Amino acid sequence: MYFDLNEENLAVRQAAREFAQQELLPGVIERDTTMKFPTEQVKRMGEMGFLGMMVSPEYGGGGMDTISYALAMEEISKIDNSCSVIMSVNNSLVCWGLEKMGTEAQKQKYLPKLATGEWIGSFCLSEPEAGSDATSQKTTAIDKGDHYLLNGTKNWITNGGSSGLHLVMAQANPAAGHKGICTFIVETSWPGVTIGAKEDKLGIRSSDTHTIMYNDVIVPKENLLGPAGDGFKFAMKTLTGGRIGIASQALGIAAGAYERALAYSKERMSFGKPLSSHQAIAFKLADMATEVEAARLLIHRSCWMKDQGMDFTVAASMAKLFASEVAMRQTVEAVQIHGGYGYVKEYHVERLMRDAKITQIYEGTSEVQRIVISRSILQGQLSQPMWSN
Ligand code: CAA
Repeated sequence: MYFDLNEENLAVRQAAREFAQQELLPGVIERDTTMKFPTEQVKRMGEMGFLGMMVSPEYGGGGMDTISYALAMEEISKIDNSCSVIMSVNNSLVCWGLEKMGTEAQKQKYLPKLATGEWIGSFCLSEPEAGSDATSQKTTAIDKGDHYLLNGTKNWITNGGSSGLHLVMAQANPAAGHKGICTFIVETSWPGVTIGAKEDKLGIRSSDTHTIMYNDVIVPKENLLGPAGDGFKFAMKTLTGGRIGIASQALGIAAGAYERALAYSKERMSFGKPLSSHQAIAFKLADMATEVEAARLLIHRSCWMKDQGMDFTVAASMAKLFASEVAMRQTVEAVQIHGGYGYVKEYHVERLMRDAKITQIYEGTSEVQRIVISRSILQGQLSQPMWSN
């Protein structure tokens, strides 16, 4: 068993670390306070190749492995989680879905724009009454011969106010249940696409989260993504990879909070010695370091399984479940170690604590991950270590 990162992985991690420190850290508090979308920063992420990391070079992407993507997500998430969720949705939901399921014409038309950041994309599955219960799609797509007519409302759509393209899941044959759901590529400039107000959120505040309304949107038949009726399975498969991205975001939040708590505890004197010399604090640091490392191992294992072509569904759910719970626990601890300073914006850990919460909710709540894992256990699929089957 090898745990080495290759040269490309190390170079990507270093580039992401420097980019986050030099270009995301300045202004991150202000963007969070004012909810200002990071337009310049997203443009730079596109220029640096962070928006289409795993897309094949023939469509303008970086052609990298999933580990490189997870490493970049971790580094960027230590600093700015509005930027990292924009990056995660674009890479692992929109670009990955298009590349895996798209026709050659669809890939050539859309992927170069998305991989370079000329456009960013949104993944439109959630609805007012279909969050975790994702098969209950109320958005409809009626077959009109040479096009579909799309009607409905999508909620909590990341990149909703700034994306050029949506992947929209909609019910085209209600009698068939989830087997009637289709996925459509919808350009946001098309008539009938309306963007609702930007949500005022607890965390990831400068990312762009909107309700989207589709009113009699004409979607040409060539913009159906994958076979008709495969839309739900498409969403599930795509979200499985997305869960690695969000797990990496959660890891970055936890690791960022840990690194800040460690540095602060070495500088801050109390009762005549550094905080870190008090066992109460040193033990917290030990627990934080251990949990961060365990989350990293689960994530890297799921990346490796994905890149080997193995079924990584449960591995990704375990990684997301654990990393997001670690992010929540460890950011609370980081605020505690900082004491009163931790409660103010200047020290960054209160923002990380607010950002951590969403990682337990989006791309499948912790409860949804437990459904995926427990079903697998009860079907007898987890009796051996997953990677040695
Ligand atoms: N890969 C392929 N197929 C899958 C699959 C997967 N990972 N998971 C399920 N399926 C298939 C099943 O095999 C089944 O197919 P058959 O009927 O042919 O057997 C079909 O899909 C239905 O599956 P289930 O019976 O398991 O469906 P369910 O109703 O019990 O739901 C669920 C299961 C796990 C709860 C699922 O609905 C789910 O994951 N919900 C959460 C949705 C979610 O993650 N939303 C995130 C929104 S996007 C977002 O957050 C992005 C952002 O902006 C940050």
